[in-house]
Amino acid sequence: MTDPIDYDVVAEYYDLYTRADYDYAFFLERVGPGIRVLELTAGTGRLSVALAKAGAILTCVDISKGMLARLERKLEKEGLRADVLCADARRLALDESFDTAILPFQSFMEFVGRDAQLDVLRSAYRAIVPGGRFYCTMHNPNVRRKSVDGVLRGVGTFEHDGGYVVVTGFEVGGDPVVRRSQFIEHFDASGHLGKRIHQPMAFELIDEGAFRDLAAEAGFRIVTVYGDYTPGEFDSESSPVMIWELEKPEP
Ligand SMILES: C[S@@+](CC[C@H](N)C(=O)[O-])C[C@H]1O[C@@H](n2cnc3c(N)ncnc32)[C@H](O)[C@@H]1O
Repeated sequence: MTDPIDYDVVAEYYDLYTRADYDYAFFLERVGPGIRVLELTAGTGRLSVALAKAGAILTCVDISKGMLARLERKLEKEGLRADVLCADARRLALDESFDTAILPFQSFMEFVGRDAQLDVLRSAYRAIVPGGRFYCTMHNPNVRRKSVDGVLRGVGTFEHDGGYVVVTGFEVGGDPVVRRSQFIEHFDASGHLGKRIHQPMAFELIDEGAFRDLAAEAGFRIVTVYGDYTPGEFDSESSPVMIWELEKPEP
């Protein structure tokens, strides 16, 4: 089984370079007050805080202690509540106590290999009630593959701790596993390099048909697949993402 990407090494910097909110409205429309939600791969709580503010009864799961420590700090600062669980999403033994499960930010792709993917789907399946939904997100492989070209690209430069942090990365492979090397360089105010982190990442470009088979094998009924967060219809040639709405059928 492939080791998960190590996010502890970047937890201090993650929120600097990850400020996306394009998926908030999508999830807030589906996760209202009083809904029991299991969020897999919650990280530092980019989305979780918005869901908790909206009144969701939230359980956040992530394998990185460093990422979850940041999430807990944010919840405390905002006076919000959520259960925070440091665990491997592939091996969760939570029983039917959630109305909805979500796996946001296209992070399903970080589960490399059929066995790992099936394990995560089964974890979500076990955890939700019959009739409950699982929103599982990933990039559209046909579109995402185009930026896997070995070219070093900048993610951005961010002021931090009296200096600045530069984030870059390049990606190779893609058949189906992409290897991304991400670099985080922390300079002081006079431009001297202090810390340099290399975060090796592996993620899989998951084919639409392969995911359909996996979801069915885990016991889910596919309700729909959206191609963006507006949410628009999925087009295999042009949609940026695949947002799968899965249902655990009633017995
Ligand atoms: C790209 S980050 C996304 C974090 C957050 N959902 C967001 O939207 O910013 C992916 C997260 O998946 C977590 N992760 C990776 N493998 C995992 C596993 N096997 N079990 C639980 N969490 C995992 C990482 O620790 C990391 O926090």
